[in-house]
Amino acid sequence: MLGTLLPDLRTPVPGAASRAAVDVLARHECPAITARRARRAAALGTADTDPIVWDEAVGANVVDVDGNVFVDLTAGFGVATLGHRDPEVVAAVRAQQDRLLHAMGDAFPDRTRIALLEALAAAAPGGLGHAILGLSGADTIDAAVKTALLATGRTGVLTFGGGYHGLSLGTTPLQAYKAAFAEPFRAILHPDVRHLPYGAPMADVREALAGGDIGLVLVEPVQARGGCRVPPDGWLAELAAVGRAAGAVFALDEIYTGFGRTGAPFAAAVAGVVPDLLCVGKALGGGFPVSACLGSAEVMGAWGASAGEALHTQTFLGHPPGCAAGLVTLRRLPDTTARCAERGQALRAAVEAAGFPVRGVGLLLGVELGGRSLLASRRLLERGWIVLPAGMQAEVLSLTPPCVITDAQIAAFVADLVAVLEQP
Ligand SMILES: Cc1ncc(COP(=O)(O)O)c(C=O)c1O
Repeated sequence: MLGTLLPDLRTPVPGAASRAAVDVLARHECPAITARRARRAAALGTADTDPIVWDEAVGANVVDVDGNVFVDLTAGFGVATLGHRDPEVVAAVRAQQDRLLHAMGDAFPDRTRIALLEALAAAAPGGLGHAILGLSGADTIDAAVKTALLATGRTGVLTFGGGYHGLSLGTTPLQAYKAAFAEPFRAILHPDVRHLPYGAPMADVREALAGGDIGLVLVEPVQARGGCRVPPDGWLAELAAVGRAAGAVFALDEIYTGFGRTGAPFAAAVAGVVPDLLCVGKALGGGFPVSACLGSAEVMGAWGASAGEALHTQTFLGHPPGCAAGLVTLRRLPDTTARCAERGQALRAAVEAAGFPVRGVGLLLGVELGGRSLLASRRLLERGWIVLPAGMQAEVLSLTPPCVITDAQIAAFVADLVAVLEQP
């Protein structure tokens, strides 16, 4: 049944239909967005790096336009934690679209948005009961930056090496994952962002905060794109305490880690810390774009009451189908969390048994392959596995599959991982 299948390839990867579609794409999309063979193949030392073009996705499977069946070990950038096209998500969205497809953001709310806000408040750690909804992860970080400025009157932001928070104009300077993302735009980016190494000693954190101009300390509880990195034990709780003592708002970016991915509903709980702001997105909508910056009453109260025209909003704020999908994610959270913990253990054990060191937590794992992860990811795609490298030096192969990944899929993946690394 599609969803639990092993890879089944009918053509070489990418096939003719994918290639033809990518040719059309290249004629009409900004050239910086989809990497094509000429540029990346040389860097990888492979003959070909054109992408496959997706046509359908169910559970852990993706089918491309050539009819090839793949297994998605990325969950589509960590979005499809429940699996692609989860039946309950699809049913909820269908029911919603039969009633109301679009409401009017700040002007006229609808009942689904209200229900989602109520459910988010109930699920969030530590009474973070007030939220600004968005559509992307970056939307929520932008909201956090604004909130912290209002709450503290300070403009400075402290973030951490390898951290990734999105590529909107507001979030581009915050990421410390790839300098090239920010360089061309430096002249129009936030001028007061400081970066420390992830896991930096508290003495360095105190020093960075000593000037009294940092209003926001922003950190991922486990770095995803930065290489599936888990900070030292107790570091996040200390960081929160030191940041708050210096008068800054402490925000956790759980856009990747949220909703069960780490084997806990939110990674904050495991770290023993309740942030002032919690940013979530990705898996919340089960494939529909919806995100939220959650905050305490005190910190969110810094916005003051609406004076008639919203100080922060967007046309699609609280888009009803995304909110309907989000309600499913929240209802399923205990089960998803347990599945991520159990599937994560199974995946880790299988990869470690094949002799590879693994980092990460829950179902957010990185296989440490050093310089080989880029080439391995391409060769794995050619065998029907969708995987992405992660880390600032692309030092790991990141594995963040849907929580419906099967034992058979895990075993076959590990066998192919061994095989591609043995290839000359
Ligand atoms: C930890 C983290 N924060 C923020 C973002 C940005 O989210 P979006 O791409 O939805 O804007 C991402 C995306 O990968 C992420 O992993």
